This record gives sequence, C-alpha cells and structure tokens, in this order.
Amino acid sequence: MYRACQDPDIQRFTLVPVPYRRSDAEQFVRVTAPSPDSVTRVITTADDVLVGCIGVALRDAGGSVGYWSVPEHRGRGYMTEALAAVVDEALSSDGLGLTRLTWSALPANLLSARLAARAGFRYTGVRTETAGGRDEQVVTAELHAGDERIPQIWPDV
Ligand SMILES: CC(C)(COP(=O)(O)OP(=O)(O)OC[C@H]1O[C@@H](n2cnc3c(N)ncnc32)[C@H](O)[C@@H]1OP(=O)(O)O)[C@@H](O)C(=O)NCCC(=O)NCCS
Repeated sequence: MYRACQDPDIQRFTLVPVPYRRSDAEQFVRVTAPSPDSVTRVITTADDVLVGCIGVALRDAGGSVGYWSVPEHRGRGYMTEALAAVVDEALSSDGLGLTRLTWSALPANLLSARLAARAGFRYTGVRTETAGGRDEQVVTAELHAGDERIPQIWPDV
C-alpha cells in the first residue's frame, strides 16, 4: 500500500495524503479499511500481487466509489472488472443493498471517467467540492440500483 501510493497519479487524482508516509498506509490498513463507514476491496493477481484498491464510502442508503490501480497493472482491464463486481455487490439486495452509488473526479481524469461511464454511471454535471481545504471543480456521476449497467456517453469523454 505504501509503495503503491507513491504514484504521482494516485496522489494527484485521489484523496490520499501527500506526501504519503508509511504511517498513512498503516492507518489505512488498520483503521480506515476495516471501519464500518466504508467497504474496501483489494484487487490482487492470482499470485497475490497488489493490483489496486476500490472502496465505497457509505452515506445513508448510498455510497461513493473510489479506486486506484498500480501503474504496472493499468490498461489490462482489472479495474473495469473490479468496478463491475463492486457495483454489483453495492447495489444488490443480497450485497450491501445500497440504492445508489456516486462518483466524482477532477475534470482532467479522463481515464477514470471512461471507466465509470463504461460501468454504467450517468453523468450528472460539474460542481465545486471542498477537499483538503481547497475548493475544486469535479465531474460527477451516479448509478442507481434500478439502472441498467450499460456503457454511457458523457460529454467530453
Ligand atoms: C483510472 C485507473 C484506476 C484506471 O485503472 P486501469 O487499471 O488502467 O483500468 P482498466 O485496465 O480496467 O481500464 C483502462 C483501459 O484499459 C482497457 N483495457 C485493456 N485491457 C482490457 C481488458 N482485458 N478488459 C477490459 N478493458 C481493458 C480498457 O478498455 C480501458 O481503456 P479506455 O480507457 O481507453 O476505455 C488508473 O489509471 C489509476 O489508478 N489512476 C490514478 C488514480 C485515479 O485516477 N483514480 C480514480 C480517481 S476518481
């Protein structure tokens, strides 16, 4: 986790602390991931190499999804497969039973937007979010339990 989160794109596009210290990885593994406020799934290869991480932060009957993969395993379809599995788990009545999932990202993060659009998330516009004490414009999208999970077309993606 510590080594993976040194990646500049993970630091630029997700909310991991920057700089990312070993203590941040320990906090994530010991406290954040097992917390009842979120559901975390770690993606590994069959021989147990870390590919990435995907999480759902739980809010009321919904959740917001976030993910990253390590650079050497990108572009192989792992996150596409993992996002579909986590969406199924989150929105099915025998899984987490959530009514909707939300997604947001910086406008420059086209790779992440393509992934979410392909998983069926519908574009819901741009809004300002406060993260790390800064106001930033983010692109937003959502997927409801009753929605068809078919690729969507988003503006500029
Ligand atoms: C965004 C991010 C998670 C994408 O992860 P990834 O592991 O490359 O995702 P995938 O391999 O599933 O998909 C990426 C591309 O590979 C393609 N791909 C390659 N092989 C594939 C296969 N066997 N099956 C499906 N897709 C495949 C996909 O079609 C996709 O192409 P596209 O972007 O042109 O549509 C990754 O770039 C990342 O971690 N970025 C930094 C952190 C970040 O931005 N997180 C999101 C914050 S909102």
